[in-house]
Amino acid sequence: MKPFTQAADVLDKELAVKIDGIIAAHNGDATQLVGILLDVEAAVERHYIPESAAYYVAQKLGVKPTQVYDVISFYTALHDKPRAKFTLEVCNSAPCRVKDSDKLVETLKRLLNLEVGEVTYDGRFSIEKVPCFGACDVSPAVRVNGVVYGHLDSEERILDMLQQLN
Ligand code: FES
Repeated sequence: MKPFTQAADVLDKELAVKIDGIIAAHNGDATQLVGILLDVEAAVERHYIPESAAYYVAQKLGVKPTQVYDVISFYTALHDKPRAKFTLEVCNSAPCRVKDSDKLVETLKRLLNLEVGEVTYDGRFSIEKVPCFGACDVSPAVRVNGVVYGHLDSEERILDMLQQLN
């Protein structure tokens, strides 16, 4: 692992200030590393943890960068590569599949001309299949950046949802 000064990217000043605030909100507590990294990821437009940010968090908390990367690779909710601005998360658990979540995925793929796991050329959309996110009662549903859009059982409703994302 590289020393702190050798992250591949340079930490943006604005992001450094945000990270300072996030760490302060967690009382600088290294045992809250997962929560801190989730908050950092939410603060980055492409919803990932840039290398410079990972190193900065490690430095601020007094832990090794390898510890930070161990956490990032362990938790599927954390990412070290840029993601789409809007990742359309579709539940892949059995109750939602019974309610046609597969059809929702197929419609999204067709409308966006996109396969699951790919990102549109403009970086705006991707589709991911994820486990239950607690929206079973409004299934089929999509979760986008923490917001749930339910009852997506027609192309019209799906298009409405996509138009709300900007
Ligand atoms: Fe799909 Fe709960 S089973 S959101």
